[in-house]
Amino acid sequence: MNAIKIFKMKFGCRLLIQTRSVLGFTKFPNLNRNIHIPAPRFLGLRCATNQPQKPFSVSPPNWGRSRVFPAAFCSSSKNNSSSSKPNHVADYSTTLETRVNDKNFESIYVQGGGDLDEKEESRLKNEQNEQNETILSSEPAGRAESEAEKEAWRLLREAVVTYCGSPVGTLAASDPGDKVPLNYDQVFIRDFVPSALAFLLKGEGEIVRNFLLHTLQLQSWEKTVDCYSPGQGLMPASFKIRTIPLDDTKVEEVLDPDFGESAIGRVAPVDSGLWWIILLRAYSKITGDFAMQERVDVQTGIKLILNLCLSDGFDMFPSLLVTDGSCMIDRRMGIHGHPLEIQSLFYSALRCAREMLAFDEGSKNLVRTINNRLSALSFHIREYYWIDMKKINEIYRYKTEEYSTEAINKFNIYPEQVPHWLMDWIPEGGGYMIGNLQPAHMDFRFFTLGNIWSIVSCLSTPKQNNSILNLIESKWDDLVGNMPLKIVYPALESEEWRIITGSDPKNTPWSYHNGGSWPTLLWQFTLACIKMGRIELARKAVDLAENRLHADHWPEYYDTRSGRFIGKQSRLYQTWTIAGFLTSKMLLENPEKASLLFWEEDYELLEICVCGLSKTGRKLCARGAARSQILV
Ligand code: GLC
Repeated sequence: MNAIKIFKMKFGCRLLIQTRSVLGFTKFPNLNRNIHIPAPRFLGLRCATNQPQKPFSVSPPNWGRSRVFPAAFCSSSKNNSSSSKPNHVADYSTTLETRVNDKNFESIYVQGGGDLDEKEESRLKNEQNEQNETILSSEPAGRAESEAEKEAWRLLREAVVTYCGSPVGTLAASDPGDKVPLNYDQVFIRDFVPSALAFLLKGEGEIVRNFLLHTLQLQSWEKTVDCYSPGQGLMPASFKIRTIPLDDTKVEEVLDPDFGESAIGRVAPVDSGLWWIILLRAYSKITGDFAMQERVDVQTGIKLILNLCLSDGFDMFPSLLVTDGSCMIDRRMGIHGHPLEIQSLFYSALRCAREMLAFDEGSKNLVRTINNRLSALSFHIREYYWIDMKKINEIYRYKTEEYSTEAINKFNIYPEQVPHWLMDWIPEGGGYMIGNLQPAHMDFRFFTLGNIWSIVSCLSTPKQNNSILNLIESKWDDLVGNMPLKIVYPALESEEWRIITGSDPKNTPWSYHNGGSWPTLLWQFTLACIKMGRIELARKAVDLAENRLHADHWPEYYDTRSGRFIGKQSRLYQTWTIAGFLTSKMLLENPEKASLLFWEEDYELLEICVCGLSKTGRKLCARGAARSQILV
């Protein structure tokens, strides 16, 4: 057993219990959750610390090899409290017990491609395989880290925050020149995902485990906006560790979540819970610690999130209906409705949850609901969000005002909506998922995260997956340019910018969310490329980013059409830029680990048709008609 001596603060944790009935399936006081966690909490978490410090040992967790863990310091004086300051996690490496699914990895190489005929497809596939093998075998074993990687690791470790002596997350940014950090000094759920993966791939799972358990505790914290509480199960967008003086010698640490009640624009973070579920699965797959997901409190956490997402509303579609700014794009950008990013994450989270839920009497109905939703959602997105040359041409010639269940133009899209830029832009062999679909409205913008994540989760068909990467490759200058990757293409300009963003000075054309380039998207792109056997594409993007990010001090985003300038209001030393880069490097070096993070086509799901109309002999089942399309 490895243990190191580090300074200790005594934890006098207080517990105030909040009880609240859980919608739908069970009554669950927060107390149940606290029995599993070392540092219990009240509405959120608190722990009091005594000074001066004494040495203590940390026992290794019971998975993987033993480790040295962390050099955590609690403040020795009130003025010197380090609770919310960066802390170093000791550098250690472990051999992880992983469940690598070799079949999964092999199947990277057996995907179909574009609109090619079979012969051509198989020739390209062979060529691709050879290239990939050469690229993979040319990876130097145990190569020395580049200067950029060394600095990135140092910065990532400095961004770690501790709570009651344990690492629980990473700050969004640690820019020493930033005089007004707003909420960038908090731990964001979505921002922590690449940090978590970097640590997991390095063999350091404890911080991820702590993060998952502590955020779980925050899940049911009652917060209100104008006397109205968010639905139970909502995960915060971020949390901050506050240090509160108790007396001259004691301070108390409090975990304070933000569900959007303080966030600029009061946006509700719909993606947080989805990311939490995705990260939970990644944690178990990479560490082999499957006991974590079996815990009662963790199972309940999963169910609460699902319950919130799966509850009935007025909606007619299987996609999730959300407000503007409910995901990575957390300001008004005209993505309210059914944005692709949320649908892709929703689909991924449902696939994760299905794998992780303990199958018993209590969860039987939930699993059935998940399966039905997965099936309907994939059909809906594959069928109605997909565009390529052929589809655009169809839309261009659509008849409108069709009143019947058999309408071709179901959403009454007026062909005039097809933007001029798109007709010239869409390449022959490529296609993508549009950003949003509503009655009489298709948002034709290309949103990178949603498209990449639909490849990763296999929300899109294998053929569509390939076509999306074909499009990125052929539109490289527009989507990558000088810095991977554009968050959305193209930018909203002039009147559109004024009306849709509300004249947002941060989201001016080709800046920030409005066509800016976000290096954090690199890891997701890398993952998608590895899945589709297009490693050379990922490597090109990573190489492009490496020197520039290092020289530019790891900005949050870049501006201009080609991503040439550091963003106007971009923070430097942005953690998810740093972590995204490290994760990409490690995924490229360990593609077998990448296979733990993506999904292949689930043919059983394609068979499920919830409407049951085809069975009754009626012809109204859209799915029956489109069978050939969705089964590819
Ligand atoms: C910005 C981004 C958001 C991110 C946050 C912290 O608000 O839009 O996605 O989580 O910064 O980095």
